[in-house]
Amino acid sequence: MSAPRTKPRELRAQRRRGRHGCWDHLVVAPLWVAYDANLGTLLRTCDAVGACLAVPRTPHYRAALEVGDTLRGRRPCIHWVAPTKEGWLAEQHKAGRRIVAVELVDGATPLPRLEPARSPTVLLLGHEHHGVPDDVLAEVDECVEIPMVGWGASLNVAVAGSLVAYRLAGLS
Ligand SMILES: C[S@@+](CC[C@H](N)C(=O)[O-])C[C@H]1O[C@@H](n2cnc3c(N)ncnc32)[C@H](O)[C@@H]1O
Repeated sequence: MSAPRTKPRELRAQRRRGRHGCWDHLVVAPLWVAYDANLGTLLRTCDAVGACLAVPRTPHYRAALEVGDTLRGRRPCIHWVAPTKEGWLAEQHKAGRRIVAVELVDGATPLPRLEPARSPTVLLLGHEHHGVPDDVLAEVDECVEIPMVGWGASLNVAVAGSLVAYRLAGLS
């Protein structure tokens, strides 16, 4: 007979006891993502990979994260983006952070070739319908695309962001 498998509750006890602090090495930034469920999913991914989440400091994002937060008060570190997204992004660049956009564009790095983040990195995700604005894409250090062989034009943004976050965190 095979040995009993460890159950999720016991596995969780072996991991860290609470939420992680501000690691700041990887910041997932869904600056244009609108839907509560997608923001909630990305918050859980940040918790899982040890990343921070950055979102605009607006009532919409605050409310969306209240609704989407299923981590019962142990949510990861949130960076509030203000006063403007463009200004915040320029600050990140100035501070030496690498800006990586997840987007299907010419010249993007295919996900299997993406290296884990070796320096502080901001991971940008686009709007559910309009993607990452073109003027922002022109300024980023790298774009990453997730190869697709199916009929759909793109993946759900929280799925796309989670796949790339795992890779940048060196966990896949
Ligand atoms: C549903 S897609 C947006 C599609 C939009 N109609 C467009 O053409 O830009 C929402 C976001 O998910 C991410 N995304 C979805 N599928 C992707 C893929 N295969 N590769 C890279 N990013 C992807 C990107 O960040 C994108 O901005």
